[in-house]
Amino acid sequence: VQHGQGWEAEWQARFADGAAPAAGDGADLAGLRQILRRRTHRRYLDRPVAEPLLRLLLATAFSASSKSDFQQVSVVLVTDLARRDRLAALVPDMPWIGTAPVFLLFCGDARRLERIGELRRHPSDNGRLEGFFNAAVDAALVLQTFVLAAESAGLGCCPISVLRDHAAAVAEILALPDKVFPVAGLCLGYPAAPGYVSLRLPLAVTVHTDCYDDSGLAAAIDAYDRRRDARYSIPQQRAPERFGDAVFYGWSEDKARQAAAQPEGTAFAAYLRAHGFSLD
Ligand SMILES: Cc1cc2nc3c(=O)[nH]c(=O)nc-3n(C[C@H](O)[C@H](O)[C@H](O)COP(=O)(O)O)c2cc1C
Repeated sequence: VQHGQGWEAEWQARFADGAAPAAGDGADLAGLRQILRRRTHRRYLDRPVAEPLLRLLLATAFSASSKSDFQQVSVVLVTDLARRDRLAALVPDMPWIGTAPVFLLFCGDARRLERIGELRRHPSDNGRLEGFFNAAVDAALVLQTFVLAAESAGLGCCPISVLRDHAAAVAEILALPDKVFPVAGLCLGYPAAPGYVSLRLPLAVTVHTDCYDDSGLAAAIDAYDRRRDARYSIPQQRAPERFGDAVFYGWSEDKARQAAAQPEGTAFAAYLRAHGFSLD
């Protein structure tokens, strides 16, 4: 896409709906095109990621905003193949965890602030919900900043939150102490295929002006399901033995089934409570 052509191509790729805003389309907004076209990649070329580039991406990622400047994020770069294999074995149906050229774990780190309190002799309890939440949000911001940086360098990523279902095993494999918890892993490498832009809900659903209003939700979701289906239909219905066969199987049916059939993270709260968080 050339600069100066407006946002139509990116808009249609991302929303397939309505018209792109006629916003300033100068070269200085080129970074926005990159973000509008971003996508997850799960298959990678057999090409290493140079160590200096990886360090630059990490430096960029840690430039993300940080609640109260507390900087409550730690990343574990997993280079040891034995540890990597053990992580991959936890989730056999996601082989990209083991095959990506680089694998990182983004952790919320509520421990460091407590340690700093001890060093300065002003101890505090950072295991309450506020401490957990701040660390989780900071980790998510660093994660996404890493993803955007990597994509602008021609790399592809796939976050892996399913590892939270195995938090105790992950903590054992990577020696995570109490109050340091996985938010998501991240696969990284040069993409093996172009991939595709995943349609997002329209801004009419996700942006509310002045007051929250979801009165138009049902119709908007139906229309979104149809737009998505026209671009890529879902090949297999989820758990038909439980939910039956839908005549039209759209995104909302799939996501409702996913949330109802396989609630994720059921053991995570117990893991956190057993590892330093009161969450009160
Ligand atoms: C916090 C987070 C956790 C994710 N966990 C997984 C995962 O465990 N396995 C996986 O294959 N993809 C995972 N993804 C990727 C999402 O499935 C993907 O972002 C989503 O389908 C939207 O596609 P897009 O990123 O290409 O727009 C995760 C994404 C995020 C943001």
